Amino acid sequence: MRARRKLVDAAIANVPLIIQDHANCEKKAAGTAMNLIFRYEFSYDLQRKLAQLIREEMLHYEQVLGIMNDRGQAWKYLSAGRYAKGMLKHKRTYEPAAMVDVLIIGAFIEARSCERFAALAEVIDDERLAKYYRYLLKSESRHFEDYLALAQSLSEDDIDERVAFFKKVEAELISSPDYELRFHSGTPA
Ligand SMILES: [Fe+2]
Ligand SMILES: [Fe+2]
Repeated sequence: MRARRKLVDAAIANVPLIIQDHANCEKKAAGTAMNLIFRYEFSYDLQRKLAQLIREEMLHYEQVLGIMNDRGQAWKYLSAGRYAKGMLKHKRTYEPAAMVDVLIIGAFIEARSCERFAALAEVIDDERLAKYYRYLLKSESRHFEDYLALAQSLSEDDIDERVAFFKKVEAELISSPDYELRFHSGTPA
């Protein structure tokens, strides 16, 4: 609880950085989904769900850009945090396992985004941002469900064990000390 408080405090003290990283995340979410669309053309279900997801992530991207513009916040290069990479390095390298892993990782990223938006909305001293973060919860939680359902429907085996594995990896990433503050970072070191 104390670690979470520390993280939320750090985020609130660095709102422009969090907004910039959020913009990067929305763009990356669309890009990752677009890669999946090109790679796994055999699945109608994947094509349709991810086409919608990409549309929504790009809308979010556009909205965050608008918020930055209204706040007079210039675009600033910001390296990616360790979070997504930390899960992707465990991705299996053969198909369809690689596809299933990316879908499971996508589900975790979406779920964690929801947790972060909810936490920020609760404490942020900016009604427009708080409202916007609450608005995002709806689509991002659906993205979580869609990714997880796709992972299960496109896997020959039960995915429970793999989900449990990534759950552990993810928990470690968000609870261990992190030297960079990002939208999905761990406990500030
Ligand atoms: Fe999004
Ligand atoms: Fe999303």
